[in-house]
Amino acid sequence: MTIRPLVIIPDSKLRLVSEPVQEITGEIRRLADDMLETMYDAPGVGLAAIQIGVPVRMVTMDVSKSEDERQPMVLINPEIVWASEAKRVYEEGCLSIPEYYEEVERPDRVRFRYMDLEGATIEQEADGLLATCVQHEIDHLNGVLFIDYLSKLKRDRVMTKFKKAAKREAGA
Ligand code: NI
Repeated sequence: MTIRPLVIIPDSKLRLVSEPVQEITGEIRRLADDMLETMYDAPGVGLAAIQIGVPVRMVTMDVSKSEDERQPMVLINPEIVWASEAKRVYEEGCLSIPEYYEEVERPDRVRFRYMDLEGATIEQEADGLLATCVQHEIDHLNGVLFIDYLSKLKRDRVMTKFKKAAKREAGA
């Protein structure tokens, strides 16, 4: 297992639409291991493959918030199949937008479907943090970031800040 470098905004890779996984190969298993390792190291509760630069529809999550009882999830080709009318506001962050948090409104409950590493299709209903997290991560597979839900003013402000930081780093 390898901790891989995170892709940070304004990197345009984050805007790619990721491709479906066709077959669960050794490479896909290794990618899942690396994603989990990278996510736990960050630390974060969710990671999409594109956040380590791989444009495939794969997500890792662990919303257990306990180091003693890890509950790693690997979602292959996940999709939302139902979302509640009721909404909920949650303060979100993203490993690709470090140290920036803002409230985002999303459906309160969702049902989602995915394939696990054994190739089984699983359908699951979620509320709370898991519901927020799975929606946030599936957005990544479609090139969508949580800042896209904020006002243009807020989004421009955070993009400008990270563009400046990227420039400084490139110039250093
Ligand atoms: Ni994110």
